[in-house]
Amino acid sequence: MIAPPSNALPDIDRSTATPLYRQVYERFRTAIEQGVLRPGDRVASARSLAAELGVARGTVEAAYGQLAGEGYFSAQGQAGTVVSPSLPVQRPVRAGSRAIADAPSRGAALATPAGPPPLQLGIPALDAFPRKLWARLVARRARAMGAADLFYGDPAGHAPLREAIAAYLLVSRGVACQPAQVFVTGGYRTSLALVARTLLAKDERVWIEDPGYAPTRDVLRNAGHRVVPVPVDDEGLVVARGVRQSPKARMAIVTPSHQAPLGVSMSLARRLQLLAWASRAKAWIVEDDYDGEYRYAGAPLPALKSLDAHDRVLYAGSFSKVLYPGLALGYLVVPESLRERFEEAARIGSNGCPQITQATVADFMRDGHFSRHLKKMRLLYARRRAMLVEALKKAFGDSVRIDLQAGGMHLIARFETHPDSDAVLARRAQEAGLNCQPLSGRGTASFGEQGLLMGFTNVASPTQARQLATRLRAALD
Ligand SMILES: Cc1ncc(COP(=O)(O)O)c(C=O)c1O
Repeated sequence: MIAPPSNALPDIDRSTATPLYRQVYERFRTAIEQGVLRPGDRVASARSLAAELGVARGTVEAAYGQLAGEGYFSAQGQAGTVVSPSLPVQRPVRAGSRAIADAPSRGAALATPAGPPPLQLGIPALDAFPRKLWARLVARRARAMGAADLFYGDPAGHAPLREAIAAYLLVSRGVACQPAQVFVTGGYRTSLALVARTLLAKDERVWIEDPGYAPTRDVLRNAGHRVVPVPVDDEGLVVARGVRQSPKARMAIVTPSHQAPLGVSMSLARRLQLLAWASRAKAWIVEDDYDGEYRYAGAPLPALKSLDAHDRVLYAGSFSKVLYPGLALGYLVVPESLRERFEEAARIGSNGCPQITQATVADFMRDGHFSRHLKKMRLLYARRRAMLVEALKKAFGDSVRIDLQAGGMHLIARFETHPDSDAVLARRAQEAGLNCQPLSGRGTASFGEQGLLMGFTNVASPTQARQLATRLRAALD
């Protein structure tokens, strides 16, 4: 049942000359006229709304009577009162109608109710998520909920999930940590914001990759820190350039498994250089391992954190790519020396992660579904990538160059002989409903590469791959 939305409307005000019943009436009328309440929506009973607003029941009944008399409400007997189904539908201002700056959200502008637009970056195969199994696990958790589960959770995360993550990291990513070093968060950006407010002072400098993941830059700038874009080559972040540009930076943020967006893996030499710099400069490294699990040639590379002999690396993981982004769940592993500071920081904030979601993910991991799911997705993504590559080569012939990286969830198609910039090509593709993104948009002005970034994880069949490539060809020609 629906009470009038109090955020958009004036409070019930006892000091004005407007009678209380009239104020209640106005709230509903405005809500209906603005489309916040729609034809057929049920409204709260007069008794419960009166209790909620702290007015007499007769006051609400008088307002309801008037709304019914004017045709806004319709009494439905036992079913209560509803907004008249015969009223015209008004268009509300929808939550989420403003896109935020990152690629996944840009994709939201093209998204349909059926899912993300074709070639959307960074979204796992939504058709392959084991929904039935997930629903069963959620239902089991909901049924088993006791009083303790209704209380506030640990702000550092649900203990069984922290344990499951620590076990997974040790076995699969070579990261040895105790569950107490694992902090559950609302995803990578929340992890980074937590890191920034715990370890960085205002105006401190942070190396970020150029090109890189825009939310990293945005979160840091928004928190008042200075970002120093450091170039990336085919071995990953060029550490020597970082040292030259800003030797006293307090932190470096890197994607060593598959650089976002170039897809290169950071070489061992660079990893060691970066760790040596951090140790010398007493700086921190944040390892954003957003999709390190997806490697199609050989086993996944161990995380940078696994080489961290001097405890300078904070490891950020996310469930967005390995389960689904709507889950809004990630985690941060901090060195033991920082554990207490992060416990304190986590206590001050809230991790914003519902207990039942955390418990379900813990069950999913502990019962072996997680590693099975990852294994399946690795095979599936390798197949889907091959399908898209083949279709693009067929559609574009020699005019496309695709350098396949060892892993990741997107490819970069380069149309080097095309006279238009990648930004123009991406716009044309987007106008045709394909959510390609320009590579050049991921870097600063000194980053000179061009190409189109395309997610392949949701390309479901060779036929679909062919249709997408043909549509793209028509859009770019
Ligand atoms: C480079 C990079 N890091 C991290 C993430 C994960 O972010 P989140 O956990 O907020 O979904 C993404 C998702 O697109 C990404 O591309």
